[in-house]
Amino acid sequence: MIDAPPVTGWFRMPRVWPVIARTLKTFAEPVTVWSGACATGEEPYSAAILLRELRISGRVLASDVNDAHLTTAERGWYADLEGVPVAQQRVHFRAADGGYRVRHHVRAGVEFSRRELGDEDIPECHVALVRNVWRYLNGRQQERLAVQLREALAPGGILILGGADLLTADLVPVVPRGLLNHFAPTAESAAVFRAVRR
Ligand SMILES: C[S@@+](CC[C@H](N)C(=O)[O-])C[C@H]1O[C@@H](n2cnc3c(N)ncnc32)[C@H](O)[C@@H]1O
Repeated sequence: MIDAPPVTGWFRMPRVWPVIARTLKTFAEPVTVWSGACATGEEPYSAAILLRELRISGRVLASDVNDAHLTTAERGWYADLEGVPVAQQRVHFRAADGGYRVRHHVRAGVEFSRRELGDEDIPECHVALVRNVWRYLNGRQQERLAVQLREALAPGGILILGGADLLTADLVPVVPRGLLNHFAPTAESAAVFRAVRR
């Protein structure tokens, strides 16, 4: 396991969230969103807020390999809410201990667990957020995860990658190993992938 920093944020990469919303509306309820490298929780809680605001019933499964990150995520307390519109801050957070606590109605929609990508099973879902983590997986793990995602995603489901998964630190375009055997980027965003037809 590599000790990766939990760099993350609320509604990170804003352009993908409308795509997620549109996709979620196409499924029969309840839906499942999986955040596969959830770090300190901002990503899965953003998804839970989206579900709540769309009035779509469902759950958000969130996992990470790092226990300390998961502990912070489960606590649901944050020093700042950069990226969360003020109207949403009022509804989904309350002031606590000099920061903000995610309200119970959002926390109750997220289930956290420890899971190591590339080595452990992944859950069935309609939307998979597997963002800014592929660089920590070796080639074998990347290939296995791509196959697992293909199997786990419901027909019509989407896989979301992060900017760091698609561009090296030297700004060279990159794609996780094996991914394009199973997925293709969509017209909606280069970070949104759908399974290719077999
Ligand atoms: C840069 S953060 C990404 C957080 C979030 N997905 C985002 O894009 O905002 C990377 C996270 O990947 C986790 N991670 C690294 N290797 C992992 C693995 N093999 N399985 C699961 N999580 C892993 C780290 O613990 C860290 O929380």
